Amino acid sequence: MDSKQVYLPSLVFLLSLVSLVKCSNWCYTGCAETPSHWEEMPGSSCGGQRQSPVNIVTSNVTADLALNDFIFVNFSSQHTIKLVGFNGHSVQCTLMDNEVEVSGGGLNGTYSATQFHFHWGDKEPHPGSEHTIDDNRYPAEMHILTIKKGVTTEEAKNQSDGFAVLGFFINGTDNGDLSGAWHTLTSTNITGSSVDVEVSFNFSIDDLLGDVNRKQFYRYHGSLTTPDCDEAVVWTIFHEPIQVPHNLINRFSENTDLVNNFRPAQPLYGRKVTASPATPLPPVSEHHWCYDSHCYYSPPQWSEMPDSYCGGQSQSPINIDTHSVVMDNTLGSFTFKNFDKGAINYITNTGHTVECVLKDNMVEVSGGGLKHAYSTLQLHFHWGTKAANSEGSEHTVDSHRYPMELHIVSKRKDLTLKEALQTSDGLAVLGFFIEDSQSSKRITSSSGVSSSDMRPWTKLTSYFSAIQNISSQVKVTDVISIDDLLGSVNRDSYYRYSGSLTTPSCNEAVVWTVFKDTVKLDHNLMMMFPKYTTFQDIYRPIQSVNNRKIYSTSAAEALRSILLYPLLGCLFALVP
Ligand SMILES: *[C@@H]1O[C@H](CO)[C@@H](O)[C@H](O)[C@H]1NC(C)=O
Ligand SMILES: *[C@@H]1O[C@H](CO)[C@@H](O)[C@H](O)[C@H]1NC(C)=O
Ligand SMILES: *[C@@H]1O[C@H](CO)[C@@H](O)[C@H](O)[C@H]1NC(C)=O
Ligand SMILES: *[C@@H]1O[C@H](CO)[C@@H](O)[C@H](O)[C@H]1NC(C)=O
Ligand SMILES: *[C@@H]1O[C@H](CO)[C@@H](O)[C@H](O)[C@H]1NC(C)=O
Ligand SMILES: *[C@@H]1O[C@H](CO)[C@@H](O)[C@H](O)[C@H]1NC(C)=O
Ligand SMILES: *[C@@H]1O[C@H](CO)[C@@H](O)[C@H](O)[C@H]1NC(C)=O
Ligand SMILES: *[C@@H]1O[C@H](CO)[C@@H](O)[C@H](O)[C@H]1NC(C)=O
Ligand SMILES: [Zn+2]
Ligand SMILES: [Zn+2]
Repeated sequence: MDSKQVYLPSLVFLLSLVSLVKCSNWCYTGCAETPSHWEEMPGSSCGGQRQSPVNIVTSNVTADLALNDFIFVNFSSQHTIKLVGFNGHSVQCTLMDNEVEVSGGGLNGTYSATQFHFHWGDKEPHPGSEHTIDDNRYPAEMHILTIKKGVTTEEAKNQSDGFAVLGFFINGTDNGDLSGAWHTLTSTNITGSSVDVEVSFNFSIDDLLGDVNRKQFYRYHGSLTTPDCDEAVVWTIFHEPIQVPHNLINRFSENTDLVNNFRPAQPLYGRKVTASPATPLPPVSEHHWCYDSHCYYSPPQWSEMPDSYCGGQSQSPINIDTHSVVMDNTLGSFTFKNFDKGAINYITNTGHTVECVLKDNMVEVSGGGLKHAYSTLQLHFHWGTKAANSEGSEHTVDSHRYPMELHIVSKRKDLTLKEALQTSDGLAVLGFFIEDSQSSKRITSSSGVSSSDMRPWTKLTSYFSAIQNISSQVKVTDVISIDDLLGSVNRDSYYRYSGSLTTPSCNEAVVWTVFKDTVKLDHNLMMMFPKYTTFQDIYRPIQSVNNRKIYSTSAAEALRSILLYPLLGCLFALVP
């Protein structure tokens, strides 16, 4: 009894501390609960499979006739904004209760707007919109939050269409109106205040939206983009941006000392993005390429695709003629950062391969003769058929094609992806040949080195049944590191040349590393790739080397030979 009386108050105190922490302790940068950790917060839905924002791939968007015109109520009224303030995460304008409404636009019923707020980047040129279109991020994004009429906020959070958010991109212009509604809004003194201040703005929401075409918009189902990320939002993203002078956009970060308050793009997990019929979409056929002849652009035609570099002089893959490689002593060991961590975020069927997308900014590659540090984005595979003797690597060595090839794709850390694609060493791809573990078993097992551990590959391929459909994705819950997949392969002995991506648009932006030693994989696991995707012979034909040099490590190679050959001699003596 006594002890209870002593401990109870302190327990209550502790619990209240915990709940305080839970409510406020998240951020975009500079605290423990950054976006990649939001999913760990108690009660959070941030790790779900219907999250926002997303990257809108316009070639994957289809038009939907049900997305009719919106009806906007009181958007032109000059007296709807009640309060403005900085809540620590955004600048937010609170609207008068039950005055501003939206319906139509394919929404089920009428929604009442409660507030609008903004997401922005850093001083130019670091953009900060939450959604991206074909990986293009705008300087900022405005969200008008509306809630289904007749439901409470708590009820809305519990319905898949409880909220409708209207998202408008904000584009920066060099000149433009420096005195209108955007000037008034961004001149408001919210410095250091975390509470709302009453305002009597003499502008309307329409004044902020300008002449954006409101018949052109994208639609998908997602979540709130801040914790708890409730999956209760019907999203509308308007195609055209609002044009606002850069000077005024910069004031969001200047006035608040907050930068980059946007959440990274979340996987679609099979969700569809649709668009209103008036939205301009790329013609479908332009994006149809494949490895055989059953599509619009087969490999010889890849060079005719819009914005394609596939007809260039420094293309990949190539045949590596070992008699003409040049030894280069400067090709040393690589530094692999976090190759030993469970870094795979999700696995997706891209329609061309199986791609393992890594967690943001976790894995890095440097050294190995690379002149920059590279951030690893994804790894994917090339393969042949289900046949036992199938050959499906992209590169060949002295015209020998291996069963499979693994590509680990990294981007220069100091460049955006867009910049990297236009820079000759913007990307670094590590290529590993994959061989049947049976054919090399004798050597590995009897040499004392334990034969390759297939458990990581068994785990990886166990996800394939969930990605049989093109564009489908599956979140990886097992801890599978790149080191696990590579096993004991020698990473000090490799070829180096300058080339391209091996898929359209074939940008000549790749420093290629092709390793001499092979990763060993059971044939049964190799078969999972063609079996579940039904893709076969997923490799581009060999491209001309032209006048390029292929370099090779030398020292490590020599060392390896010295170690290996006497060993092999013993082995073969032992094998009956
Ligand atoms: C969706 O987009 C991805 C990435 O651009 C592309 O690889 C895939 O083929 C697209 N899927 C469809 C069904 O168009
Ligand atoms: C529009 O706003 C006015 C006040 O400015 C208000 O009287 C009216 O009810 C609003 N309209 C609707 C449909 O809420
Ligand atoms: C539209 O909303 C109403 C009321 O919330 C609901 O009963 C109905 O099922 C919804 N219809 C669709 C197609 O979602
Ligand atoms: C709403 O919440 C209740 C309990 O909190 C739950 O039983 C119910 O399934 C939820 N409804 C929806 C549509 O999510
Ligand atoms: C964004 O603004 C730039 C000028 O700063 C302009 O060149 C570009 O066309 C605009 N983009 C859109 C989609 O309006
Ligand atoms: C902004 O408001 C704060 C109080 O909230 C005040 O101390 C400061 O002087 C104001 N700044 C300007 C430029 O008006
Ligand atoms: C708002 O009032 C200011 C003067 O206080 C004026 O310069 C401006 O044009 C007005 N804006 C609108 C949209 O009426
Ligand atoms: C693949 O798509 C079909 C129809 O489009 C659907 O019935 C099936 O459930 C999907 N499979 C997976 C694993 O998503
Ligand atoms: Zn928002
Ligand atoms: Zn590849």
